[in-house]
Amino acid sequence: MDAYEKKVKPTYLKDVATWREDSRFESSAAGRLWTVHNNFRGEALEILRAKKKPSKRAFDDLLKDIHKHHKGEDTSIFPKMKKKFQIDEKKMKTLEDQHVEMLRLEDQARKLFDEVDDDDGLLWELKQTLDALFGHFMSHLALEEQTLMPHLLSVKSFTDMKTWPV
Ligand SMILES: [Fe+2]
Ligand SMILES: [Fe+2]
Repeated sequence: MDAYEKKVKPTYLKDVATWREDSRFESSAAGRLWTVHNNFRGEALEILRAKKKPSKRAFDDLLKDIHKHHKGEDTSIFPKMKKKFQIDEKKMKTLEDQHVEMLRLEDQARKLFDEVDDDDGLLWELKQTLDALFGHFMSHLALEEQTLMPHLLSVKSFTDMKTWPV
């Protein structure tokens, strides 16, 4: 396990083990969310591990997918789940705020990407900014899973959720 993996290794492994032992996990919306989040984690780690300047294209592609994911959560999944289940309001507000904070950190990183060359002194600054951005993102994913997974185990799929009222 490298330094980055150690840093982002979920501190909620006990929770994860509990969800995964549930017979509904793999075929539920919980399993789907887990897969999507883990793909994000893997791609973010690849960017953070780059020895020199990380790939701007990989960064743009990942952030595009994250935006799409967050938009779906903000406009549909979060409001529907808040209505259907009793979920801690403070935690839901934190999750929504984290989506917004992510945009601010992303803007910072994007500006640096445009200014930095491989051997530029700014490369260090870019790496620090990416570290902050993805550190924030990993915390967000963990909080989201802790908050939503117990409820999503009883949801067959996100397609089913489309029929729920907002
Ligand atoms: Fe989210
Ligand atoms: Fe998410």
